[in-house]
Amino acid sequence: MNPYSDKKIVDSWEKNASQWSAAVRGGHIESRNLITNKAITETVLSHSPESVLDIGCGEGWLIRELASRVPHLVGVDVVPDLIDRAEDAGGGHFLVASYEDIARGAIEGSFDVVVCNFSLLGKDSVETLFKALPARLKIDGVFIVQTPHPVTTGDQPYIDGWREGSWAGFGPGFIDPAPWYFRTLESWVTLFSDNGLGLLEIREPIHPETYKPVSVIFTSANMFDRHRKEIHTKSM
Ligand SMILES: C[S@@+](CC[C@H](N)C(=O)[O-])C[C@H]1O[C@@H](n2cnc3c(N)ncnc32)[C@H](O)[C@@H]1O
Repeated sequence: MNPYSDKKIVDSWEKNASQWSAAVRGGHIESRNLITNKAITETVLSHSPESVLDIGCGEGWLIRELASRVPHLVGVDVVPDLIDRAEDAGGGHFLVASYEDIARGAIEGSFDVVVCNFSLLGKDSVETLFKALPARLKIDGVFIVQTPHPVTTGDQPYIDGWREGSWAGFGPGFIDPAPWYFRTLESWVTLFSDNGLGLLEIREPIHPETYKPVSVIFTSANMFDRHRKEIHTKSM
């Protein structure tokens, strides 16, 4: 198997489902406890959603976090073991599907918020998913992505490309790290605009000790639908 491929990402996450679950539920990942969990939860809730679709939901912590505030929650992930764990813990509806499956119509309906929290790791799979996303948003819906901040992540040249994975800082037991595809900030912005998604907000959660941005949170909307709604409202 190509060590730098979307397929290898899935293979690696399949091998590390129990370790990941233990790391998330045991609070082993410092940046999550300190900054990024609160940042994504607040960003989602700031839209007062009635429905949320969490894509690449892992063992389902974000769905559980939102459960008392959002009536309709759906989590989806490609790894069956993670979805089993999410279902056991509850909080919403869960199903197994890859990004390619979602692009082929595996998820029905539209949502107030579609969120990807550190789950957009690959190249082609992510680009395929983006094409399918506008159709999963309600007219006033938003698509929210949290990802490691490109400017402060790693020390390789600032150009798009595959990177070797690492489980450093995640706790014990992990094996065979997943590779990931690095995108510059400019490339992320282009990925949204090329798929008809207009950026409404970019947030940069800051580490309270280093004062460096840990992640970036993009909030986007289907510009075609919003424009259509505007024209409809004006013509009434
Ligand atoms: C870093 S984990 C994040 C999990 C969860 N969003 C969270 O915040 O805990 C990345 C997740 O993306 C999922 N994933 C990666 N590639 C995927 C694909 N092509 N289709 C569906 N899920 C995928 C993995 O299985 C994994 O659960």
